Amino acid sequence: MEIINSAREMTLYSEAARMRGARIGFVPTMGFLHEGHLSLMREARRRADVVIASVFVNPTQFGPNEDLAKYPRNFERDCAMMETVAVDAVYAPDAAEMYPPGAQTWVEVTELTRGLCGRSRPGHFRGVTTVVAKLFNITKPHLAFFGEKDFQQLRAIERMVADLNFDVEIVPMPIVREADGLAMSSRNAYLDPHERKQALALSRALMVAREKYLWDARTPADLAAAARAVLEQNEAVKIEYVEAVDAETLEAAVSLERPILLAIAARVGNTRLIDNIVLRASAVSRERLRA
Ligand code: PAJ
Repeated sequence: MEIINSAREMTLYSEAARMRGARIGFVPTMGFLHEGHLSLMREARRRADVVIASVFVNPTQFGPNEDLAKYPRNFERDCAMMETVAVDAVYAPDAAEMYPPGAQTWVEVTELTRGLCGRSRPGHFRGVTTVVAKLFNITKPHLAFFGEKDFQQLRAIERMVADLNFDVEIVPMPIVREADGLAMSSRNAYLDPHERKQALALSRALMVAREKYLWDARTPADLAAAARAVLEQNEAVKIEYVEAVDAETLEAAVSLERPILLAIAARVGNTRLIDNIVLRASAVSRERLRA
């Protein structure tokens, strides 16, 4: 596995692969890897000839009061994990390489990033789309893999690729969970054992809302209310939002007939966690809705 720090070298590596006719699969990360990240890399290994992963804690997507300085890092362990899934090259730039003095160009997806996490994290998605655009230009992938764990991020990147004619296919990947349901996240490392238990409320709330959806929900608001009720039973869980939105536009959902994203952001202690589920009416449940 090659470790590459400079943008120039990374681009030469990718150009050489393209010249050989190889298909490049790319997985951008902020490191402190877990099974969620590895699932993306395994799929990249399956679908591409050359697998590139990046490890970069991107300062421009953190707000002034967020956890940039203490974001968990362990590059050696990350490299050992990437070896196990046969990543070919790791791009690990430093911040000065990514953002040299004088940098002043941003990529911003305006509508999709207004609600949900965009509301409480101004500038976050602008930082994400900017760094992902730069990473695409540096690594020149044919395919790039993103987790549905960060659903709004995935939609923003799909939009950016369409709007700016990036020649890359975005591959969405399902959320990987711990055995008890907690969505895997690098930030779970912040949770103490008590908080770790409380954090289960997020996935439980989604499961309860899913039952509601399958059995007796009448409106999207019923789903959000069911999830909220579960979260509110846990005094250690501070809700930031619980929303049922259209899974395509991320605008407030108006009907159960279209795919719905039920998304949660909440704080457990000082740790901000997100989770979501996409609910799609099966033929059976649509029957029920008409009944
Ligand atoms: P990071 O949080 O490290 O996540 C990297 C990728 O792994 C993202 O596509 C994310 O959705 C995916 N991922 C994280 N947890 C997952 C889980 N439990 N199941 C499936 N996929 C999961 O997202 C970022 O980094 C950054 O914003 C980045 C895109 C790298 C830009 O800086």
